Amino acid sequence: MALRIVVADATHMQYTQSVCDLIRITSQQKGSGIVNRSLEYIAEKIKSGKSVIALDNDRAVGFSYIETWSHGMFVANSGLVVDLDYRYSGLARRIKKNIFMLSRKLYPKAKIFSITTGLAVMKINSDLGFVPVTFSELTRDIEFWKGCEGCKNFDILQRNDYKICLCTGLMFDPEKPRRPKMNRILIIPQKLPWRFIFERPIIFVKHLLRRQRLLRKRNALRKQIEQNNNNLTP
Ligand SMILES: CC(C)(COP(=O)(O)OP(=O)(O)OC[C@H]1O[C@@H](n2cnc3c(N)ncnc32)[C@H](O)[C@@H]1OP(=O)(O)O)[C@@H](O)C(=O)NCCC(=O)NCCS
Repeated sequence: MALRIVVADATHMQYTQSVCDLIRITSQQKGSGIVNRSLEYIAEKIKSGKSVIALDNDRAVGFSYIETWSHGMFVANSGLVVDLDYRYSGLARRIKKNIFMLSRKLYPKAKIFSITTGLAVMKINSDLGFVPVTFSELTRDIEFWKGCEGCKNFDILQRNDYKICLCTGLMFDPEKPRRPKMNRILIIPQKLPWRFIFERPIIFVKHLLRRQRLLRKRNALRKQIEQNNNNLTP
């Protein structure tokens, strides 16, 4: 299996029909969180370089695209789909990472968001630094919410004045990058006064060892975060 994930452009127009078929078939599956899109819509996303395709040799097996709202202030990573035969192998995670990096490259100042009912997308986005938000934090652009018209829960959204629905909103704000939780709990204790060496030597040594251990852990964590950030830098 020679799987590759590429940023689609005009040279990938031959995949438009198969991507459309993939989206259509998936949207008809029970529990699917994806809305059907027209051939023209997908063709435009491919041609304009605002989508990524997963290709197994010459077969399109995954897709996701970028939509912009509120004059580019918001970017949505939408339409994530993976062919049934290729699921549970980390492909969606790879596609999401690629579309996220592409969004950061094309719109570095935009807030990036998704709405989903799916655990897979929640997990993936959360690992990329997205945080859950209420719908009030998302774009108010009516065109975005029109995209929900094909969803079977659209009446719920309408009844709630576009403020509440079954989906969870997830947002990456470039101005407020999320600090990983573990970083916050690694609070290194202050040094004990030197007199403890003589008065309470065992406590002093234990304290010293604990401090060393936590410092090592914190440094390792910092390195890991830096590495993750470097990987995500478009
Ligand atoms: C959702 C979808 C894209 C996931 O694709 P995938 O390639 O199987 O996902 P991955 O293998 O990258 O899995 C990523 C994580 O999600 C989990 N996951 C995948 N599918 C899941 C599911 N149906 N339910 C719960 N968790 C799921 C995986 O276990 C993995 O978690 P881990 O890394 O903690 O082990 C795919 O099932 C699909 O195309 N569904 C229909 C369309 C859809 O609902 N798209 C989402 C629109 S918001």
